[in-house]
Amino acid sequence: MSIKNLFKSLFYSYFKRDSHYYLHNSNNINHREYIGDKWDEIGKLQFDFLKKKGLKPHHKLIDIGCGSLRGGVHFINYLNSKNYFGTDINYDLIKIGLSKELNVKLRNKIDENNFLVSSDFNFNFNVDYFDYAIALSVFTHLRKSNIITCLKNLKKKINNGFFFGTFFLVDEERKDTPFIQSKQITTYSYKDPFHYTYNEIKEISKNVGFECKLIYDFVHPRNQKMIAFQKKRS
Ligand SMILES: C[S@@+](CC[C@H](N)C(=O)[O-])C[C@H]1O[C@@H](n2cnc3c(N)ncnc32)[C@H](O)[C@@H]1O
Repeated sequence: MSIKNLFKSLFYSYFKRDSHYYLHNSNNINHREYIGDKWDEIGKLQFDFLKKKGLKPHHKLIDIGCGSLRGGVHFINYLNSKNYFGTDINYDLIKIGLSKELNVKLRNKIDENNFLVSSDFNFNFNVDYFDYAIALSVFTHLRKSNIITCLKNLKKKINNGFFFGTFFLVDEERKDTPFIQSKQITTYSYKDPFHYTYNEIKEISKNVGFECKLIYDFVHPRNQKMIAFQKKRS
């Protein structure tokens, strides 16, 4: 990172919140807009993707940064009762999702043990290992240090399972300048929405003990890229 961006990064981390999702007063919001809109499209996109990658109803899935259940609605409907686990930093978003997005049938398929509110990636649900994990549009809001904490904690709970996370990627030579990902989104190295190079992700992944690979056939409307992580076999 250039010296200029390093100073910007320090400024943003000490004087501004990493992202608006850290606000816990999200009661009177339009949650679908707040989460990032394209509700139906992106909800279905993540569900179809995991099904294509082998997700079956008997599997246990953790949805990291589950928000108001844009993907959760589809996963809860598909998975066996109590097999969906959602975690988020923002309690209000989960609460709104449970009350406004789930019908009675879906509400009966989960209970309070299926959700955890945590700012430090606490995944201590009463589950030995998850079969699948997803973090869609979450790392796009996170600094590297938070991504590392998330991966380290997940590693203890995933064993042979698969983890998929989306990122905004940028080429090495563009990483220090703002990058236009789509009409609506410009990404930065020092503030939310964050971009990373694929090499940076590979480095993080290797240091934590995962292997990762870029998924080429995942197409996101705002140019997020999907990366698959699996624990390195020793
Ligand atoms: C763009 S939303 C995506 C939500 C959901 N994955 C979806 O596809 O609808 C980003 C979510 O990440 C959550 N988030 C941001 N930082 C987080 C952190 N450090 N730990 C857990 N969740 C976080 C936000 O509260 C928000 O719900």
